[in-house]
Amino acid sequence: MDAVNNKPLTECSFIIMGGTGDLSKRKLIPAIYNLIAQQQLTTFSVLLVAFSATSAAEILEQARPFISALDPIIWEKLCAATYYHQMDFYNEVCYPLLQSSLIDIEKKHELKGNRIFYLATMPQHFETITKFFAHHGIVSNDPGCHLAGQEPWARVVYEKPFGYDLASAKALNKSITRAFCERCVFRIDHYLGKELVGNIALTRFTNRIFEPLWNHKHIESVHITLSETLGVEGRGAFYDTSGALKDNVQSHMLQILALVAMEAPAYLSAEYIRAAKAAVLKRVVVENVTLGQYDGYLQEKNVDPRSTTETYAALCLKIKNRRWQGVPFYVTTGKKLDKKETSVVITFKPAKCLLNICPVTTNTLTINIAPNEGLFLDLHIKTPGTNNHVQPISMEFCHSCLFGPNTPQAYEVLLVDVINGDQSAFLRADEIELAWKIIAQAQTFITPLQTYAPGSTGPKS
Ligand code: BG6
Repeated sequence: MDAVNNKPLTECSFIIMGGTGDLSKRKLIPAIYNLIAQQQLTTFSVLLVAFSATSAAEILEQARPFISALDPIIWEKLCAATYYHQMDFYNEVCYPLLQSSLIDIEKKHELKGNRIFYLATMPQHFETITKFFAHHGIVSNDPGCHLAGQEPWARVVYEKPFGYDLASAKALNKSITRAFCERCVFRIDHYLGKELVGNIALTRFTNRIFEPLWNHKHIESVHITLSETLGVEGRGAFYDTSGALKDNVQSHMLQILALVAMEAPAYLSAEYIRAAKAAVLKRVVVENVTLGQYDGYLQEKNVDPRSTTETYAALCLKIKNRRWQGVPFYVTTGKKLDKKETSVVITFKPAKCLLNICPVTTNTLTINIAPNEGLFLDLHIKTPGTNNHVQPISMEFCHSCLFGPNTPQAYEVLLVDVINGDQSAFLRADEIELAWKIIAQAQTFITPLQTYAPGSTGPKS
């Protein structure tokens, strides 16, 4: 069922290009399993596609440990509808074979032919796959995403990273626009599927106590933090060509910033939400950058021993519009830090003194995205037993205490959106290009790379 509408999801096939990869095993297969377990997904098939000689059974076995509380009956349902197709993405003759494989599977499972192609491969393959999908009519440029004269639809999901700089992102957007209608394209950022990220704008716009204060007159600063305890975890080859700026800042963190800072969209539709976010990203200016690398990074597998790739980045950004005049947005992310935490902290300007009673700290609103999802509001109250003394307290809203720990995982939420054709939590081409422009600005700051100790809070400065 669709979580809100309580309707079973439209039947479809998931075709995971890069089906043997980490994303497929750790996130996508478990997300599909959960959708089946919740009885949202009843009629479906999964086709895992990759270059190596392997089997669906082997990949599913590797995905199994990433499913919590596995129910053998649900697992069996998933296994019975999952297939493997070996192909070389660069060999054009393989595409009609993929097409016939799909038709066979759809016949066997009595599916009508709706298809979600999830590009979970290395990003350098995206353009080639896009081109051959278009050449062979596997995905069309029909505005309804229908294949020539047929009712079923085909949609394409592009995993991040979307390009590795502004030029490559533009080139990829160009090939996609040439090949498909924008309504069939889903550029994913899994952070937009997280409950508390989805809450940012709604909490602000639906609570009278926040929106009137949401500007430079009342807000002193905004801190957006994505701190991780893990290192590069076997992703050295990819990470060493990327780094903190291109990996987390370009995508997750700038998306969070855009959601915090955007104007209220006229309608809650993809078109208006994405335009409001793009309007913020257009006005972002980088004021300062600090970069760091954890001690021991150079010894990680597949990392160049002389690498200057940053595993930590802290930026001070400003948004050049009337609402945010002069307000610093501090964006910080790093690997191998002291804690795993993703949060947004809105610090309000200090309240005025009431005669001689002055607040000791400022009010803050903390939106904890992970791991302890919730909202925390720091206020002042009178210290019990005194007449003229105040002390800070925190009002806490624990999301999992109220809604339970099993709120849907980000990839489940986003797969449901793709099935429903809802693009509001997916990125528009210009948002991605604007984010790359901000990264290019940050890279013009010549800042020495500072080493930091694993388990610390990052570089000393
Ligand atoms: C990915 C980044 O997009 O997000 C990783 O490539 C990062 O480097 C991960 O670790 C963080 O996601 P989450 O959901 O674990 O906070």
